[in-house]
Amino acid sequence: MSFIELKNLTKYFAGSSDPAVTSLDLSINKGEIITLLGPSGCGKTTTLRMIAGFEHPSKGSISIDGKEVFSESHSVPPEKRGIGMVFQDYALFPHMTILKNVMFGLNKWSSFEKKKRAKEVLELVGLEDYGNRYPTQLSGGQQQRVALARALAPKPHVVLMDEPFSNLDAGLREKMRFDVTNILRKANTTAIMVTHDQKDAFAVSDRVVVMKDGIIQQIASPKEMYRCPKNCFVAQFVGKTNLLTGFMDDDQKHIHTHIGKVCLPEQWKERLETVKLSIRPEGCRLTEEGKYCGVIDRVTYGGEYQELYVRLHNEPHLSKEPMLIYAPIEQELEVGSVVSFDIKPELIALVE
Ligand SMILES: Nc1ncnc2c1ncn2[C@@H]1O[C@H](COP(=O)(O)OP(=O)(O)O)[C@@H](O)[C@H]1O
Ligand SMILES: [Mg+2]
Repeated sequence: MSFIELKNLTKYFAGSSDPAVTSLDLSINKGEIITLLGPSGCGKTTTLRMIAGFEHPSKGSISIDGKEVFSESHSVPPEKRGIGMVFQDYALFPHMTILKNVMFGLNKWSSFEKKKRAKEVLELVGLEDYGNRYPTQLSGGQQQRVALARALAPKPHVVLMDEPFSNLDAGLREKMRFDVTNILRKANTTAIMVTHDQKDAFAVSDRVVVMKDGIIQQIASPKEMYRCPKNCFVAQFVGKTNLLTGFMDDDQKHIHTHIGKVCLPEQWKERLETVKLSIRPEGCRLTEEGKYCGVIDRVTYGGEYQELYVRLHNEPHLSKEPMLIYAPIEQELEVGSVVSFDIKPELIALVE
């Protein structure tokens, strides 16, 4: 049995006929960092709140560390589930020092043990010298580390974090993704994060759970999710992509599409006729003798690379989207120029 098991979790809110979460099954290993990723309203927070015990599922069961904390016949209250929460706005007590904030969740411990543990976790998050300050005297990143220290202090079975990076600006956000992951790893804790940001999810997680309309679309490691998205929604949600439709060649290895014949990374086992393909922009490489040839329709600067939108020469009409290709920033490329490119089969995936 896994460390955390969510089985058939379903949540109907009163007054709504569509469930916010539908038959969600998820097994999480001890020490794993898992992220629920999806657009706003897809049921991420509701799932997290059901695990925490703040929301009652309409159906299903939840177990944590081998103990059933929710089933249709009983529910363990939040404070007895062994959960540490990190809220989006950190929810630190402004009138208490950092040390007192961290000690807050340890009310059953002796005052000596409380202080010792609070100092230990403050050291873990790199704030051992800040115990006497107040939350307003800390930066956003430091406040977040205090919130994490407070969540970790009672040695919870699992830390739950709802959009933990959304209050931070871009530069700090990147650093905090790294810091938070390091702290969670050092504490050897199991964690579930919720975010609508693919970069947050990929930077922090062992596995990512993509949700849409309350339903899990795919569960995979960031790399696998990016390379082999299961369906069009996942392909588009975890990065930019080119979606093409085509039909399978008899050899089960090539797809005939509007841009020409595309080679799959491996021979397909199932007999399929029409198929959808996701081709990542970085899987297309500009080269003089490329197999595919077209005219640049649009160029935008993405910072580290240029985004080229290329219309294929053999395209019979303009109904298709141009192909998105990433090109090195130093290359001189203009709208109207003719370019040719190849596609790396490893960055092609068949999607539903
Ligand atoms: N307390 C509530 N009462 C009624 N509907 C709710 C409540 N909380 C969330 N919902 C609805 O459930 C769906 C999922 O919401 P939520 O879990 O907050 O999504 P997310 O965190 O992915 O943005 C949404 O349609 C939302 O409006
Ligand atoms: Mg939410």
